[in-house]
Amino acid sequence: MEKKFNRTLVTAALPYANGGVHIGHLAGVYVPADIYVRYLRLRGREVLFICGSDEHGVPVTIRARKEGCTPREIVDRYNRIIKDSFEGFGITFDIFGRTTSETHYELASQFFRTLYDKGEFVEKENEQYYDEEAHTFLADRYITGECPHCHAEGAFGDQCEKCGKDLSPTELINPRSAVSGSAPVLRKTKHWYLPLDKHQAWLQPWITEQHKEWRSNVMGQCKSWFDMGLQPRAVSRDLDWGIPVPVEGAEGKVLYVWFDAPIGYISNTKELLPNDWERWWKSEDTRLVHFIGKDNIVFHCIVFPAMLKAEGSYILPDNVPANEFLNLEDRKISTSRNWAVWLDEYLKDFPGKQDVLRYVLTANAPETKDNNFTWKDFQARNNNELVAVYGNFVNRALQLTKKYYDGIVPVCGELTDFDRQTISEFTDVKSQVETLLEEFRFRDAQKEAMNLARIGNKYLADSEPWKVIKTDPERVKTILNLALQLVANLSIAFEPFLPFSSARLRTMLNVSEVPWDRLGAIDLLPAGHQLGEPSLLFEKIEDDVVEAQVQKLKDMEAANAAANYRANDVKAPIAFDDFEKLDIRVGTVLSCERVPKSDKLLKFQIADGLENRTIVSGIAKHYAPEDLVDKQICFIANLPPRAFRGIESQGMILSAVNFNGDLSVITADREVKPGSEVK
Ligand code: MF3
Ligand code: ZN
Repeated sequence: MEKKFNRTLVTAALPYANGGVHIGHLAGVYVPADIYVRYLRLRGREVLFICGSDEHGVPVTIRARKEGCTPREIVDRYNRIIKDSFEGFGITFDIFGRTTSETHYELASQFFRTLYDKGEFVEKENEQYYDEEAHTFLADRYITGECPHCHAEGAFGDQCEKCGKDLSPTELINPRSAVSGSAPVLRKTKHWYLPLDKHQAWLQPWITEQHKEWRSNVMGQCKSWFDMGLQPRAVSRDLDWGIPVPVEGAEGKVLYVWFDAPIGYISNTKELLPNDWERWWKSEDTRLVHFIGKDNIVFHCIVFPAMLKAEGSYILPDNVPANEFLNLEDRKISTSRNWAVWLDEYLKDFPGKQDVLRYVLTANAPETKDNNFTWKDFQARNNNELVAVYGNFVNRALQLTKKYYDGIVPVCGELTDFDRQTISEFTDVKSQVETLLEEFRFRDAQKEAMNLARIGNKYLADSEPWKVIKTDPERVKTILNLALQLVANLSIAFEPFLPFSSARLRTMLNVSEVPWDRLGAIDLLPAGHQLGEPSLLFEKIEDDVVEAQVQKLKDMEAANAAANYRANDVKAPIAFDDFEKLDIRVGTVLSCERVPKSDKLLKFQIADGLENRTIVSGIAKHYAPEDLVDKQICFIANLPPRAFRGIESQGMILSAVNFNGDLSVITADREVKPGSEVK
């Protein structure tokens, strides 16, 4: 039986308030959600669009510690930035709330308490690393040490990035706290778990049988979780930033961020509609849809539904149209490496061009697989599609009408077969766009809108009103009337996708509103209607502009690497005697040349105060040999000789290693006698 829904509750993943939002977020979650919501509103459906920032979790506390401020200052700052970015792009949330609001604290605590009282949790005690200096339990990510597999230093408590193996913190050799640097100790601690293993019995058929329509990427992930068998999940943490666990004896414990955050959808609704929120969350005729990225699938399809079901009074999601990831210039977007296009930056760099990014991100939406954003493609889509197709058609139709008829819509005369054929090409556009949007196929839906502009362009090109005006002026009236009807149709069809442009287009057409219902009609503008002043809907973007953006990406990444660079941890202490065993000397470079057939090695003749010596050093990538001649460099003089490509090297030249791997040889600051000791 088809379910009958009377309203749609749309949520968009709550972004973490420990950083800004970038194009990956926009493409994967917020633009598709906004298109969907705008479309539903245009159709006159009752809809609510909920978002807000996700303000708890360990990363917020780490960031605060790093910047020497409080977690609250961090989340206040980013809540603002994120909210402004979304507003800038015309994302029309009904509320952008916060998980630090009073309403949220109250509702989330209540939620936990209900589950607790109903016996829906399992309590378990285990041992976890505790930092005695910082007085805090440590999240897995904040414990580092030697990898038990490959013995690399700096492996994390959850994973070694050198060999890629998953770890648990207790496997690390010589674990260190990333918070204080001290050695952590194991301490007993108690937590509450949501027994997902018990929920699998209803979750699995609910998804795999009752929601066969979910996207295949979503279904695939769910099935693989089911195949592995769901495990109990801890819903509390030992941390001092979060919502206190509302149970006696739970001092110092807070709700796990992934427990409280999705409840944020509910509390933000309550914040907006204090007296009506339950109608949205507790009526079977509400359709709940979660827009998220693929890294959130398990939480929205499995964990949150289990929470809702356990609580007992809430509806479950009807669909979770998750997207895959968007890459940037063929690389994974990374906030830690600062390889990203930040929305606030884009808004500053491209004022008034929000729709261009909306268009490009939808055209490249990672709906079925990861997709790639490049500035070249951004430019091409702007110039070849928005400017050359959409903008060009609109401009020609409006300019010709201005020229021939003073901007007054001419009367439509008798239609030719060609006219009728053109009309037949777009009368179905409404049902096509609607079907695609109902199926969350945003790229294809936007293509249909663009297709209208293609039809218009072709119509003008083939009917050539600028020529016909000389022979048959009556005919031109019909041509331009029809072209203008197409322009008006474009303003409707693009409304959910490119709202800023549609608004401008309506101004040019001098109409206040064109209802969605009329999409596909050819009597949108009555004859005699005075149009507004035409202007360009889109502008060409030049090469230097996108080249500058690519350069900016590279610069930001490099600046970030420089700022984060910390010399590797200091090695274990040694006895002074050990230091004194090293014989470091200054030598003058007599000659330096490349070692044949090697792109790494340089061969030096060094004056060392004795008989001169040969040293081979792997710095050819960093120096031209002639630039080193006459320099006074430092070398270790008492190492056993080693052969490189058949050349015996009698020592080792010392260099400083820059954060990016560049080498710089150590030289004496003033001239000294060759062979001088370095102490
Ligand atoms: N903050 C999470 C992220 O960015 C998303 C939270 S969604 C919610 O990945 F459901 F928890 F709110
Ligand atoms: Zn390893």
